[in-house]
Amino acid sequence: MSKKKDTLAIGVDLGTSLTKLVGPAGKKIVKIPSLVGDPNPGWKGLGTDKSWINNLVLQTDDGKKYFVGELARLQSEIKRPLAESGKMKSMKDAIIAIKAALSNFVEKDYANLTIATGVPVASPQDEMTTLSKGLKGAMTVNVANDATGEEKQINLKIEQCLVMPVCYGSYYEILKTSGEDRAVDAVVVDIGAGATNILTVYEGRLMRTASGSVQESISTLAERLASNLNQQTGKILRPFELIKAIEVGRKNVMVAGEQYDISDTINYYVGSISDIIVDELQTLLGSLPPDAWIEKVILTGGGAEVFGSNMKNILTENNIVHSPDEVIVPKDPVLANAMGFQKIAEARA
Ligand SMILES: Nc1ncnc2c1ncn2[C@@H]1O[C@H](COP(=O)(O)OP(=O)(O)OP(=O)(O)O)[C@@H](O)[C@H]1O
Ligand SMILES: [Mg+2]
Repeated sequence: MSKKKDTLAIGVDLGTSLTKLVGPAGKKIVKIPSLVGDPNPGWKGLGTDKSWINNLVLQTDDGKKYFVGELARLQSEIKRPLAESGKMKSMKDAIIAIKAALSNFVEKDYANLTIATGVPVASPQDEMTTLSKGLKGAMTVNVANDATGEEKQINLKIEQCLVMPVCYGSYYEILKTSGEDRAVDAVVVDIGAGATNILTVYEGRLMRTASGSVQESISTLAERLASNLNQQTGKILRPFELIKAIEVGRKNVMVAGEQYDISDTINYYVGSISDIIVDELQTLLGSLPPDAWIEKVILTGGGAEVFGSNMKNILTENNIVHSPDEVIVPKDPVLANAMGFQKIAEARA
């Protein structure tokens, strides 16, 4: 049996709100909330959604069970986010989530996998090593479907596990889809749910002093909006309750049976948050040698949808680009990192 043929290349992006996995040729995509929770036994077989991905239970080698992703979000009393404020919180939980999600990609036993995964830019080197070591090697993944009670045991081997700063995925994706074969000098701004990650690539090198992160992100916008509505209405709204309204671009929200227009508040904070991000970007770029010339600004992450047009204008006003259309936004900014990592894994497999 030729090993090469059987190696599955999978790209992973461990985000604050969503963990994204992309399979060979980008055909299979899995998105789960970045949550791991304690099991909470309930009634089986009654819900209508019996899909594996929304009912994932993982049993670790020590016999402990965990709810993962959407199941943890909906049913766990105690749940832990994999990341917070732009940093990974627990590599152990990240490994649990990735293993569980991988069970959706592997169709036959004893599959060989090559994984490329992104972690927040601010992650220390030793954590990246922990993640890589924790995932590499042969393993048995024991998963169950909480809705049906069905169990699966999958033996797989992760031959390689590359761990990289998250934005590099989008960089690679843009390069490959635009047919570039040289290393383009670029800065990637990834506005996510919990942080904005910035990565500068200069002469093919990842520039550490010109890369970093700020907390300003979709969460910041939700927090500002919540506190503004709390003042207007006297009712307490929690930021996460407003994420959906932001995501679908609602102009009004219902609070205690009354409609409130949120468009002005959103516009105001989109502007001020974009200013902070560009400010930080300028400081980071200031550490590059004066001969460095950034050819491309890539704007990625779910926040590119919300902050995109504002960011393009502010980047132009600040002379980081000549015109707004020099800023590149990937076709699917939420998935771009995972797509790029999939291609990196493919190249290594
Ligand atoms: N089409 C869309 N329009 C607007 N907002 C969106 C869209 N899709 C996703 N989002 C928002 O983007 C966020 C998710 O983006 P993304 O997956 O890039 O974040 P993340 O990687 O989980 O977080 P981080 O990068 O901070 O760790 C969510 O808050 C979601 O509400
Ligand atoms: Mg992200």
